[in-house]
Amino acid sequence: RQPTALESMAAVTDALLDEEPPLFIGVAGGTASGKTTVCSRIIQKLHDDGIIRPDQNVVVVCQDSFYRPLTPDQSALAKKQQFNFDVPSAFDFPLLLTTLQRLLKRQPVDIPIYNFVTHSRHESVHHIERADVVILEGILALFDESIVGMMSMKLFVEADPDERLARRIARDTVERGRELGGIIAQYLTYVKPAYDRYILPTKAVADIVIQKGGENMVAVNLICGHIRQALDRQRRRRQAGRQPSPPPLLGA
Ligand code: ADP
Ligand code: C5P
Repeated sequence: RQPTALESMAAVTDALLDEEPPLFIGVAGGTASGKTTVCSRIIQKLHDDGIIRPDQNVVVVCQDSFYRPLTPDQSALAKKQQFNFDVPSAFDFPLLLTTLQRLLKRQPVDIPIYNFVTHSRHESVHHIERADVVILEGILALFDESIVGMMSMKLFVEADPDERLARRIARDTVERGRELGGIIAQYLTYVKPAYDRYILPTKAVADIVIQKGGENMVAVNLICGHIRQALDRQRRRRQAGRQPSPPPLLGA
């Protein structure tokens, strides 16, 4: 059967409202500050509290996925922990920007998969069909002005530098195939100076600074409350758009 006029209007309204960008949140902070942990806690709570419906998709885009592929010479340096992965030029910001722009238009994207052991991209990619909430997580997530300009919420995760180094040593020896001496040399030569020069200054653009990383459930609860309000506003706009318009006034 042909769709009724009301159904056709509802379909048009849905299409228009689908163009409304998904909520976009940035999560920056130094290495091993707890960015990944904070994102996991937020997503867990969004699901547990029913803030996100089961059919809605929260997508975490890790900035690490957008490390530039290395030349053979750079790769040899990286294997000796003599390559600087903490400066903006290490990242493919143009690809990150276009990927985020597509996601925010609710278009499908392919996210590269990065391997910290080989310092290279996998051949396969992670395909995302659509997102309702997008979280960009990474040391320089709040660095690029065009990307930051698209965000509805900006978070900076802070933790004591000694604790961050201790956590990085524990993680990189176990998960990233690194030796203790190399981790410390890389940290002192590249990671710490880049934190002071490029990462810490982005704290100034953050709406919320999260102390104590993923353990800070007060911050996680506040952030989820804000996400709930933003999604409710979107839903109300959608429902208002579906209301049939009042009949025309007779004789008008
Ligand atoms: P980031 O994403 O900022 O690099 P992660 O959330 O991955 O940081 O945390 C880095 C490491 O530190 C992980 O191994 C994680 O389990 C651990 N970690 C995170 N937060 C804490 C914490 N509050 N106390 C102890 N270890 C933590
Ligand atoms: O997860 P985290 O935020 O710690 O990841 C960023 C860190 O990963 C950077 O501080 C960078 O030094 C490190 N890195 C690395 N080797 C790579 C890519 C990034 O040690 N191949």
